Amino acid sequence: MTAIIQQIKERFSQSLVKSFGENFADTDPLIVAASNPRFGDYQCNISLSLAKELKQKPREVAATLLKNLEIDDLCQTPEIAGPGFINLTLKPSYLETQLKDLITDNRLGVVAANPSQKIIVDFSSPNIAKEMHVGHLRSTIIGDCIARILEFRHHQVIRLNHVGDWGTQFGMLITYLQEAHPSALTQADALDLGDLVSFYKKAKIRFDEDENFKETARQAVVKLQSGDPQSRQAWQLLCQQSRREFQKIYDILDIKLTERGESFYNPYLEAIIRELDQQGLLTEDNGALCVFLDGFTNKEGEPLPLIVKKSDGGYNYATTDLAAICYRVRQDKAERIIYVTDAGQANHFAQVFQVAKKAGFLPDNVAVVHVAFGLVLGEDGKKLKTRSGETVKLQELLDQAIACSLADLEKRLASEEREETGDFIAKTAETVGLSAVKYADLSQNRHSNYVFSYDKMLNLQGNTAPYMLYAYARVQSISREGGINFQDLSANSSLILKDESELILAKQLLQLPEVISAVEEDLLPNRLCDYLYELSKKYNRFYENCPVLKAAEPIKTSRLVLCDLTARTLKLGLSLLGIPVLERM
Ligand code: ARG
Repeated sequence: MTAIIQQIKERFSQSLVKSFGENFADTDPLIVAASNPRFGDYQCNISLSLAKELKQKPREVAATLLKNLEIDDLCQTPEIAGPGFINLTLKPSYLETQLKDLITDNRLGVVAANPSQKIIVDFSSPNIAKEMHVGHLRSTIIGDCIARILEFRHHQVIRLNHVGDWGTQFGMLITYLQEAHPSALTQADALDLGDLVSFYKKAKIRFDEDENFKETARQAVVKLQSGDPQSRQAWQLLCQQSRREFQKIYDILDIKLTERGESFYNPYLEAIIRELDQQGLLTEDNGALCVFLDGFTNKEGEPLPLIVKKSDGGYNYATTDLAAICYRVRQDKAERIIYVTDAGQANHFAQVFQVAKKAGFLPDNVAVVHVAFGLVLGEDGKKLKTRSGETVKLQELLDQAIACSLADLEKRLASEEREETGDFIAKTAETVGLSAVKYADLSQNRHSNYVFSYDKMLNLQGNTAPYMLYAYARVQSISREGGINFQDLSANSSLILKDESELILAKQLLQLPEVISAVEEDLLPNRLCDYLYELSKKYNRFYENCPVLKAAEPIKTSRLVLCDLTARTLKLGLSLLGIPVLERM
């Protein structure tokens, strides 16, 4: 099944050709969802933009288009409105047949992409020996959701964790490891450094206070980069330790990632510099090698360079990202590369992309996108911190979400005088708590900052995970109450849409393919959240207006189909956000 808007587009394209000739075969008929339900469901805006070109009045253009338009099976008689818009209202009979097709379609109308693309999603990407902070959490949640949606569309997605596992800080860390845990290197497996972050801090203190230490650290970087086995082993040890910590978070959140850190691109960095040189792009500036950029200037209006080789001969974040682009284009054969990081890195990516294009690393048929996001704020409106001003540990943040969700659940069970098993309570609290964190993040337009509040994200009312999960569980309760197995509903179940609220719900259910393709394009997961939230509100209105179990046949079956499709759409939509459903809660 094709998205409704697509079907309408095709009909208008045919009419455009019939009306004005083959030249208009590729003209976009400008179909959009109606801004107000009073005007119908969709609107065609092409007459206004064609009027000039055709030297006709917009309303005349609209009339000609309508004369040649074949759309009876989809819509009621279209109307020309205002200066020349065409308003379209879908026919109930059309909605009924479309919905019927969904009963046996486990993709709920969302077709697989054709052609399917090779897409890299670069997300999460914390730094070794440093805290994985809320910014990484945002990247993890948003990146995972984008990957899930693209995978559902049958794209070939590579989920890459571009961890910061290389750089000068390793000289300091290795030197400190050798000083403080000299035996670590001989009994590698036995080492448990505990909290790597405090290890990092202790190493930093030694680095800052002792000139000898500093010098040894500097030499350690050189040794590591030249492949000295002992240094590499120490480095491995540190990475291993961090990896274990990161993995705990990924397991809790059900995130799949392939690690391909910065160090992976090491062997390719020299060649990158060589290629840039061959292209004549390199300039020496105070001993460093740079590429000058278009459109980036400093305060004085002078052009800004992107440094690709530091004056000490070392490479940096940008060099690695250039090498990563080459690898992803040439080896992975990626057609779209998506980077999920905070908005603070917007310049970095714009610069790297520009240089990559200039150097010919990025052919025109490969799209690179920086999926930027805003900050996570505390309830005081400032960057999220602990009370003592430290960065919040992700593990603690997630534990806290689960604890708050547990407290809410226990209160609710007590007020409803319900007895549940310990298992049920633990599992429900965990699912609701973690889902609340994910949903709170995904439901915001990612460009904005958002306030992290357990109270808000766990609220049973509003655009929250508990509300959505509750909506799903309530639909399921109908099947329990009526002793009905939704799976028994078959493709020939009758569908009769009469009540206004049934029509509204039906239209919403049929919008899923449009929403998914919008998110696939603009990579804004909040659109899917908004859609699911609207769906549950429309379902509630339907449920208030239309008795289901008490209705007589064939209406009863028809309404059960609406219930089932709502539940399945919620379940699918939530799964694309990385959120599992609960049959009861
Ligand atoms: N490690 C970086 C950070 O913590 C994010 C890496 C993003 N990916 C990339 N290819 N640069 O800020």
